[in-house]
Amino acid sequence: MKAIVYEKYGPPDVLQFKEVKKPNPKADEVLVKVQAASVNPGDWHALRGTPFLQRLETGLLKPKDKILGADVAGMVEAVGSNVKGFQPGDEVYGDLYWCGFGAFAEYVTIPEKSVAQKPANLTFEQAAAVPQAAFTALHAIRDAGQVKTGQKVLINGASGGVGTFAVQIAKAYGAEVTGVCSTRNLDLVRSIGSDQVIDYTQEDFTQNGQQYDVIIDMVANYSLSVLKRSLKPNGICVVVGFSSLLHMIKVNIQGPRISKSGSQTLGMLNPKEDESDLAVLKELLESGNVVPVIDRQYSLSEVPEAIRYLEEGHARAKVVIIV
Ligand SMILES: NC(=O)c1ccc[n+]([C@@H]2O[C@H](COP(=O)([O-])OP(=O)(O)OC[C@H]3O[C@@H](n4cnc5c(N)ncnc54)[C@H](OP(=O)(O)O)[C@@H]3O)[C@@H](O)[C@H]2O)c1
Repeated sequence: MKAIVYEKYGPPDVLQFKEVKKPNPKADEVLVKVQAASVNPGDWHALRGTPFLQRLETGLLKPKDKILGADVAGMVEAVGSNVKGFQPGDEVYGDLYWCGFGAFAEYVTIPEKSVAQKPANLTFEQAAAVPQAAFTALHAIRDAGQVKTGQKVLINGASGGVGTFAVQIAKAYGAEVTGVCSTRNLDLVRSIGSDQVIDYTQEDFTQNGQQYDVIIDMVANYSLSVLKRSLKPNGICVVVGFSSLLHMIKVNIQGPRISKSGSQTLGMLNPKEDESDLAVLKELLESGNVVPVIDRQYSLSEVPEAIRYLEEGHARAKVVIIV
């Protein structure tokens, strides 16, 4: 089969489009013929092996897993002997982040628990845009942010892959949403349901005197002591974005300290795999409450360009790979 392969850490130039062995499903796995995948910041971090600490998981000197791509949508081609929930021909989508990536290829094997029936109303391209970004948004809004009906929620970075899902999921949970984005993305962020929009090129939301019940920060461009000012007394601030190792360390040290000393809760999102979330997302997607937004589409051989584009940090929602 054809795949995008990397043998060493580095920029997108180290990616090779080449022929590799088609995988066979183990007893608890399904073999999926990939129709579409999507690109996440996690792909370029794994590609470059940065921050260095993550190499403890991905391989110290060279990558353990040779094919990137966490988000996948496709057709089940074969199933392992213990698989009960799927059969050949099923249209599925899944998240490979927790099980070794591999979506930038014509075929991939996935543990049965990491895959679900594709939402009926979505194309493969739309379904592939969902898993990682929408899981992250769901965990930030529902679990870490504990968003409730009527609460005021601010999404910093509302036009990105995670942000476009976060705006829609917060609305689905009944929040009044303010999205922070640049001038060119104001209409996009309004169109996905944001009640208010703040253009970060014109206004600094931490300086305007407004306070929120929940802040979800995808950009990681403010310290916690600055974000704290924009939080209501019992507010929750969830930092999702990664901007530098130093910022992440500060958030992990200051978050628990500030949270312990007062009534506000601030900290970094620490999502865990929860298979039942694929079903939760399926419901949100099939009800039309959440609609994936796709910026650009690339072919499998163009994965290096797709990653380069995402790495620039200005994607408008999701970047999809058509296989
Ligand atoms: N995608 C995932 O699955 C995932 C999972 C866990 C964690 N994360 C982390 O979460 C962060 C966001 O991920 P993502 O996938 O949403 O990234 P992304 O799609 O690459 O985010 C790009 C978006 O951020 C906006 N942006 C850039 N600077 C901004 C600023 N100062 N204020 C407001 N918006 C700004 C850009 O809009 P403009 O170009 O108009 O500025 C663009 O639309 C990343 O740090 C990532 O590592 C992502």
